[in-house]
Amino acid sequence: MPVVLRRATVDDAQALSELAARTFTETFGHLYPREDLDAFLSEAYDVERQRTILGHADYAVWLLEADGEPVGHAAAGPCGLPHAGSATGDGEIKRLYLLRAWQGTGHGARMMDVAMDWLLQAGPRTLWVGVWSENLGAQRFYGRYGFEKVGDYLFPVGETRDLEFILRRPAASA
Ligand SMILES: CC(C)(COP(=O)(O)OP(=O)(O)OC[C@H]1O[C@@H](n2cnc3c(N)ncnc32)[C@H](O)[C@@H]1OP(=O)(O)O)[C@@H](O)C(=O)NCCC(=O)NCCS
Repeated sequence: MPVVLRRATVDDAQALSELAARTFTETFGHLYPREDLDAFLSEAYDVERQRTILGHADYAVWLLEADGEPVGHAAAGPCGLPHAGSATGDGEIKRLYLLRAWQGTGHGARMMDVAMDWLLQAGPRTLWVGVWSENLGAQRFYGRYGFEKVGDYLFPVGETRDLEFILRRPAASA
């Protein structure tokens, strides 16, 4: 089965919105009351919002497609995490999600590599990522890329507040 990783465009806004809601729900949906989950999905993954992100020069989104069907997505852009050490010009891995059936197959690393290359195309810079405090698998995954925990904050999902770890990869990382 051909599995293609490609840069997404504004024409992918609908597909991205659906996939993002599906992967978030698969991964984290069990953690929240339904109304909190729905409020988060409709705000964060609104089609128009995806269109704005996809059309913005400071952001990049990639879709992983198997036989033409989206099974994963990654997004990168300027750092928006609330940490005193983040500076203008720092980059962030904003999203990295595979449908469950595609996890543990090497495609996460493939998406991460393309996002990191894009973030570092103009030279070394500090990179950041936010990850749920109990998502130990993703924390190990990011650790393999040189990210280390430097802080935490409360991430709103509807009325729920999740403890989110802030990880940083110094510009000098190999
Ligand atoms: C994070 C993710 C993109 C990594 O991609 P991947 O191709 O699965 O990467 P890896 O195979 O290196 O696995 C990374 C970790 O995910 C976990 N994982 C991998 N396959 C899994 C599976 N089928 N089921 C549950 N967890 C799995 C493991 O804990 C693994 O860590 P380990 O190898 O140190 O034990 C992918 O696992 C994913 O989409 N997870 C769900 C969404 C998510 O948590 N995204 C991060 C949000 S910050």
